[in-house]
Amino acid sequence: MTFRIAQISDTHLSDAKPFFVDNFVRVGEALRESKPDLVLNSGDITLDGASREGDLAAGRALHESLGLPVLYLPGNHDLGDSQDAPGHHESPIDAERHARYRAHFGSDWWSFDVPGWRVLGLDAQLLGSDLPLAALQETAVAEAVSDLGARRLALFLHKPLFDRSADEGEITGRFVNPAPRQRLRDCLGTVTPALVVCGHVHQYRETESAGTRHVWGTSTAFVIPDRLQPRYGLKEVGYVEHELRPDGTHDSRLVRVPGVATLNIADFPEAYGPI
Ligand SMILES: [Fe+2]
Ligand SMILES: [Fe+2]
Repeated sequence: MTFRIAQISDTHLSDAKPFFVDNFVRVGEALRESKPDLVLNSGDITLDGASREGDLAAGRALHESLGLPVLYLPGNHDLGDSQDAPGHHESPIDAERHARYRAHFGSDWWSFDVPGWRVLGLDAQLLGSDLPLAALQETAVAEAVSDLGARRLALFLHKPLFDRSADEGEITGRFVNPAPRQRLRDCLGTVTPALVVCGHVHQYRETESAGTRHVWGTSTAFVIPDRLQPRYGLKEVGYVEHELRPDGTHDSRLVRVPGVATLNIADFPEAYGPI
């Protein structure tokens, strides 16, 4: 039995600023037609859940209306950015924001098994934080790989681990930074994930590095203009379907949904301010 995950990401939903809700609703209609085994939101569920509880509630309600099984992972806009991200206008993750996220979306890390696979979801912003929960998440990673057996590992988190190589040393807000990346590698031990899936960059891309396929899921909402963000892959909105097969093979593909416009955040200055 092949397990199909429909990855939506960077939905940036809000009750007060519902600019990207129409795209979400249209993608939701396509998901109800497609009937995946699981819908997985890989973070930035909300426009500003880190500051506004109303966005968290609205984001959850919109996902409930899908009538499909859904799992969530937090992004920087849902509970604050990584503490080691370079200084910018976003608040860092803290205990209060973390608890508020959990009250609406449940645990920010989880794992489950399907034939041939273990799927592990992690809170990318908690990696490298000084919150006590960060150590608990690391323990969960070590436990998830300790009895993996013959299963392959698929890892989902909001931020890409790196651009091209795990040895990159830059401190950025775009990728998991070098120190927490290394701690995660240490927790994984000798296990090499077959698949690492993220969101955050609002671009679709597939690459291979050291035996792992890295898939960046795009946003359902908007893309970021070239003057602010390089092109790593495709700047198009949509969702990504991942197939995990019992024999350990897998495939990922970008799904374009008719009627879902590739919006540009530069056209929505009320969302995050003029850029
Ligand atoms: Fe985002
Ligand atoms: Fe993000």
